[in-house]
Amino acid sequence: MRYTQGFYPIIGKENLSRDIFSLTICSHEIASVAVPGQFVHIALPGHSLRRPISICDIDKNAHTIRIVFAVKGSGTRDLSCLNTGNTIDMIGPLGNGFTLLDRSSKVILIGGGIGTPPMVAMASYYGGNAHVISGFRDKTMVILQDEFKRNTPNTYVCTEDGSEGIKGFVTMPLEELLQKEHFDMVYACGPIPMLRAVAQVTERYDTPCEVSMEQHMGCGIGACLVCTCKIKTEEGIDFKHVCKNGPVFDAREVEWNG
Ligand SMILES: Cc1cc2nc3c(=O)[nH]c(=O)nc-3n(C[C@H](O)[C@H](O)[C@H](O)COP(=O)(O)OP(=O)(O)OC[C@H]3O[C@@H](n4cnc5c(N)ncnc54)[C@H](O)[C@@H]3O)c2cc1C
Ligand code: FES
Repeated sequence: MRYTQGFYPIIGKENLSRDIFSLTICSHEIASVAVPGQFVHIALPGHSLRRPISICDIDKNAHTIRIVFAVKGSGTRDLSCLNTGNTIDMIGPLGNGFTLLDRSSKVILIGGGIGTPPMVAMASYYGGNAHVISGFRDKTMVILQDEFKRNTPNTYVCTEDGSEGIKGFVTMPLEELLQKEHFDMVYACGPIPMLRAVAQVTERYDTPCEVSMEQHMGCGIGACLVCTCKIKTEEGIDFKHVCKNGPVFDAREVEWNG
């Protein structure tokens, strides 16, 4: 793992919806080596533990990364109070990131709620070969669709209450796509019940699938045991670190039943 820690300037801030913010941060060290699916670990004054946030997009020419986060508790509330011109204390890029196939591969990118951001960098990598499915509770929560549409014409939004796009879960368009044609890989990030459902559908269609797992974290670099996740191996169940061995895992290896 090649990562650095530093104080980096925030050069852009956007409020995407009521409690969701986007920050663009200038860091040559992080942007130059980051790959989609990795995360940064952010320190905030007054909080002993860093907060893990996925890298949403990477601009290697401009030396910037973008993060998109929801205000959940006091840490992300304080993060949302930072502004353009402030610096941010980050370690990154951390974790393994998604496996990138040849750009001409046909892939499906699935984001659920605040698991949608890492799919932005994936969509810019695969372009028009990507089909992007995003799921949200309702239309007030829908984010990042302009970014997806800039990269590919194949975008689908699902909302649980039907207030925008398809009424229902991301597995509906996923299953329709897999029935119609062959895809080389499905990538997913979002809540565990969604990842489990995506893993079941992709296994039924014998399509490789990678999932980005979320787990509470301490150090973020594999030195404590806070972030373990159960992974199936030939010898049985193994406990892996989401921060170091993940956050991306092969969906077939994850022990979904606890
Ligand atoms: C690899 C990874 C990538 C993530 N990417 C994003 C992202 O792109 N956008 C986004 O909005 N959120 C993301 N999260 C979730 C984000 O880290 C939590 O929402 C955040 O840490 C909550 O901190 P808080 O102080 O606001 O909330 P509190 O609930 O007050 O946090 C208390 C403690 O619990 C930890 N914690 C709480 N929820 C989570 C969680 N879901 N995952 C890990 N630790 C948690 C906090 O880090 C803190 O140490 C990601 C989590 C992981 C593990
Ligand atoms: S957060 Fe410490 S080992 Fe993963």
